[in-house]
Amino acid sequence: MTSNSVSPYNIEEIRKDFPIFKQKIYGKPLTFLDSGASAQKPQQVLDAIHTCYAEEYANIHRGVYYLSQVGTQKYEDARTKIQKFINARSHKEIIFVRGATEAINLVANSWGRKFLNTGDEVVLSRMEHHSNIVPWQMLRDEKDIVITVAPIDDKANFLFDEFEKMLSEKVKLVAITHISNALGSITPLKDIIKAAHKVGAKVLVDGCQAVPHMQVDVQDLDADFYVFSGHKLYGPTGVGVLYAKEELLNAMPPYQGGGDMIRSVTFEKTVYNELPHKFEAGTPHIAGGIALGAALDYVTNLGFDKISQHENNLLAYTLEKIQQVEGVRLIGQADDMAGIVSFVMDLAHPHDIGTILDQDGIAIRTGHHCAQPVMDFSDVPSTARLSLGLYNTEQDIDRFIDGLHKVNRIFS
Ligand code: ALA
Repeated sequence: MTSNSVSPYNIEEIRKDFPIFKQKIYGKPLTFLDSGASAQKPQQVLDAIHTCYAEEYANIHRGVYYLSQVGTQKYEDARTKIQKFINARSHKEIIFVRGATEAINLVANSWGRKFLNTGDEVVLSRMEHHSNIVPWQMLRDEKDIVITVAPIDDKANFLFDEFEKMLSEKVKLVAITHISNALGSITPLKDIIKAAHKVGAKVLVDGCQAVPHMQVDVQDLDADFYVFSGHKLYGPTGVGVLYAKEELLNAMPPYQGGGDMIRSVTFEKTVYNELPHKFEAGTPHIAGGIALGAALDYVTNLGFDKISQHENNLLAYTLEKIQQVEGVRLIGQADDMAGIVSFVMDLAHPHDIGTILDQDGIAIRTGHHCAQPVMDFSDVPSTARLSLGLYNTEQDIDRFIDGLHKVNRIFS
């Protein structure tokens, strides 16, 4: 099968949009299989950054002059693009942040500090990224809340029935990933949110690994908070999104003070700005926000029906091929998975696998993937992990599989 036969879109043309693929690594073609850590950027995103700084740069929300007005308009247009992208009701529900980590810290520090009290429970899943564990532990140490952990089975399926048994009126928040960054499992989010709402709990979703791969509709999900980073979505680093229902944002105190979040200040009293600016202190990442808008245009133009189909076909191809390699053990094989494959090999440590693949220009991630509790559960200190992007091809997978055979040859 060629790439075009599994893909309804023209993968060779798409790859031309990503200048990085002109690079040779040690004289070999780049095979980039680490988009789960951070995705490569299309020219359209690079152009948006360049245009912002080279032709249209000024601070925004502050100037009456032309350049400031242009920048403000483009930044706010990007916010509207994000609103449409996840189908939020209002642009007021879209808060620009540095990334998903900051978004979760914002919710923990603002909503959590105000609304969680001694004995209240926060339910996490076993598969959470450290960013969706540590802020809640920091709050637990301050507010004496209780953290409980919803289990997964040996294949890394989320155990919904077990989760449901954990729910009671003490549970005030469920903070859960949409797709596990370490194992690729997709959680049954709609059912989780519905069940949590029945006991009056709010739900925060870490959508970092979901938004690059599938169409997300926050209203359909009925998520209370949904967070993601721009850099995994083909946009720049240093910019991300907190979506929250407007009534929640209205009830929450500001997270940081200064700059854009202010309407008026005297030494006696400060009046905060309206949403969404109430949560955006200081000069924002102007070029980042605008370029994230360009990234959304890019994926939207390709269409998530096509992106998902392409990546799902490649995932099936990868799973078929990798299971034929001697000594490979997959870590996590959930019934519902996205394009992330974690594995170990009998003969080689994950870091050795990564190093040998690198010699052939193949980039994968090795380590604990900022998800140590799920490594403990799987009884491995680390894994090798391949994660797919919209630009990957069957040739990438074939090169990767050849690399694994090479690992076996070297260590046998
Ligand atoms: N959270 C990122 C990953 O999964 C960095 O690799």
